[in-house]
Amino acid sequence: MEWTAKWIRPSQEMGDVCPVFEKTFSLEGEVKSAQLFLTGLGTYEAVLNGKRVGDFVLAPGWTAYEHRLQYQEYDVTELLAQKNLLSVTLGKGWYRSPLGWEVPERIQALRSRPAGIFAQLILTRADGSTQVIGTDETWTAAESQVRFSEIYDGETFDASFCAKEALPVCVFDGPTDTLTPQQGEEIREQERIAPRAVFTTPAGETVVDFGQEVTGYVEISAEGRSGDRIRLSHAEVLDKEGNFYTENYRSAKAGYLYLCRDGKQTYKPKLTFFGFRYIRVDEFPGGPQAADASNFTAIAVHSDLLRTGRLQSSDPLLNRFFENVIWGQKGNFLDVPTDCPQRNERLGWTGDAQAFVRAACLNFDVERFFAKWLTDMRLGQRKDGQICHVIPAILRDPDSSAAWGDAAAICPWEVYLAYGNLQLLKNQFDCMKKWIHYITVHTTTPNLWTGGTHFGDWLGLDAPAGSYKGSSREDFIASAFYAHSTMLVVKAGHALGEDVSEYEALYEHIRQAFRQAYPVCLTQTECVLAAHFCLAQDCQAVADQLAQMVRACGTKLQTGFVGTPYLLHVLSDFGYETLAWDLLLRREYPSWLYPVTKGATTVWEHWDSIMEDGSFWSSDMNSFNHYAYGAVTDWVYTTAAGIRTIESAPGYAKVEIAPHPDERLGWLEANLDTRHGHIRSRWEKQEGSWRFEIDTPVDAKITIAQKSRFVSKGTYIFYAPRKETL
Ligand code: BGC
Repeated sequence: MEWTAKWIRPSQEMGDVCPVFEKTFSLEGEVKSAQLFLTGLGTYEAVLNGKRVGDFVLAPGWTAYEHRLQYQEYDVTELLAQKNLLSVTLGKGWYRSPLGWEVPERIQALRSRPAGIFAQLILTRADGSTQVIGTDETWTAAESQVRFSEIYDGETFDASFCAKEALPVCVFDGPTDTLTPQQGEEIREQERIAPRAVFTTPAGETVVDFGQEVTGYVEISAEGRSGDRIRLSHAEVLDKEGNFYTENYRSAKAGYLYLCRDGKQTYKPKLTFFGFRYIRVDEFPGGPQAADASNFTAIAVHSDLLRTGRLQSSDPLLNRFFENVIWGQKGNFLDVPTDCPQRNERLGWTGDAQAFVRAACLNFDVERFFAKWLTDMRLGQRKDGQICHVIPAILRDPDSSAAWGDAAAICPWEVYLAYGNLQLLKNQFDCMKKWIHYITVHTTTPNLWTGGTHFGDWLGLDAPAGSYKGSSREDFIASAFYAHSTMLVVKAGHALGEDVSEYEALYEHIRQAFRQAYPVCLTQTECVLAAHFCLAQDCQAVADQLAQMVRACGTKLQTGFVGTPYLLHVLSDFGYETLAWDLLLRREYPSWLYPVTKGATTVWEHWDSIMEDGSFWSSDMNSFNHYAYGAVTDWVYTTAAGIRTIESAPGYAKVEIAPHPDERLGWLEANLDTRHGHIRSRWEKQEGSWRFEIDTPVDAKITIAQKSRFVSKGTYIFYAPRKETL
């Protein structure tokens, strides 16, 4: 793209106020088409002649800004008039809001980064000639009605504010070399949700319940007078007493203040977002009690991903859990796969993404989404191969953690398996290898990964008192992931036709060293990793030990972020399907369904974010929308319903279908749209037999009741006797 535009910013610092940049122009000649190329250092909303340009919310999205900044292209032909006014309002967005846990000087430095935009409008006439309008000194900037907008703290809008004067802008040296066309999916408004109830809490506060935790914002519709204020706070849950609870947002203020003009008015925040199910009406014309359900609508926003997978069963509680996983993904796939959408994090934590990636690829088409995020990962990878804890890499972490940095190998491999995109794997291959190099160089013991700082089996239930880390040994976890990622480099190398003999040898060395260093497993998560990554001398024995451990503590899981994604796989792969089902169908704490019994509408960060007695397990690390444990749904697709792509034919070019029904469910059905068509696997309990119905769009190996048959595309129905080992 040939740029003639220049970066502009207001000639005077506006502090917290969001500037609105404006340009008036007239058409010269008869214009046939108009393309607007636009980006900004923050989040922008553009309006041409009073109409919003495009529907990308929080544009230009979040990339590793030091390496690249996306610009968007909009066809604005339909919005043109003879005389035009183009305005662009710019919030701080991810670029200028203090993210993470910044020290005061950095916060100041971030907030005072230039509030700049860069735009180029190309008007094309019938004869092919063009009129180009780019940002330059002829634009103006004024204080907008958005008086404040930050990612964590929310937004303030003054509908009766009118800027006294438009200021000149100045041109500055913004990022032009790093401008890149939109790569990811655009973020869009997806769903509108009416309040389920408006009520007064025991503390006397007016609270609106939308009945569903969402990521987005609330649209206000109200009658007011200039000077009236509408102030809302956001929360995910009510506390034990039924009061509005915001402690778990930590320092994120998540506030929303709207200052009215005269008359009827409708407004929704433009440049930020919140994670919430409830809002508290702190101020409203006539007092909070004057507010009713007609005044508010929640709007869910997320990356515009196509839904590809659907799970349903005869158990309403399990179905609600499936829905919660979907909502968890929607709420945290906002251009970047984030840990949570509400508290002072909302960051692209790598450990969470690698735990969930397989489920993510089944639920939605996330190929482009991950291609974008992984590009930022490889651009942000440090010289020595270090992968930062979060991508975009905004934390200044001194080293990498096992299972978090391993996202560098796991995510591209899983995305490749799901969609068969070899180019993506090729793009990431160096990053994968450099990650292995990082471990090799940083370990204190050759062929193992010892030393360093790790998150361990984060939030494992066997954590010693006062710690967030489960009691699995950190060196054990790190060495296991070292082996696993090395194996993925080997597999990726084979797919790409690369020589990976060095990594094959390394893998063998790691495996040997691992067996010597860790002859016994001490925790559930250790057993899970040793068996799932094929590291134990005798994987069956380790799986047997796992089953015993699970039973010995009352058929309960103890695993955290590291062990949980593979727990059921190990049990069912080694002959403990019923135990795997026991864990999945368990309703008491700890289990996947326990939060559902407590009214969860998304997946919780901790197994008992809300404890049996209604109190919270912590006020500090307690998100109610953390997708990581939703990873278990990949087991439901791939084992319970039994749909898997064959590794040598990725993207479901050929499939294996081997369902594993359980007596406690009447039926289960999985539907999956793949690059090669629609796959359906359904089983149903009938008198004395199981009925299996399978649609496959490609050649498939179907295994039922230990009998395999090879079929070509079509619909197949099989019966197998119940009570038999399947
Ligand atoms: C995040 C996690 C993340 C972790 C690192 C937390 O604060 O919310 O999901 O993976 O830090 O252990």
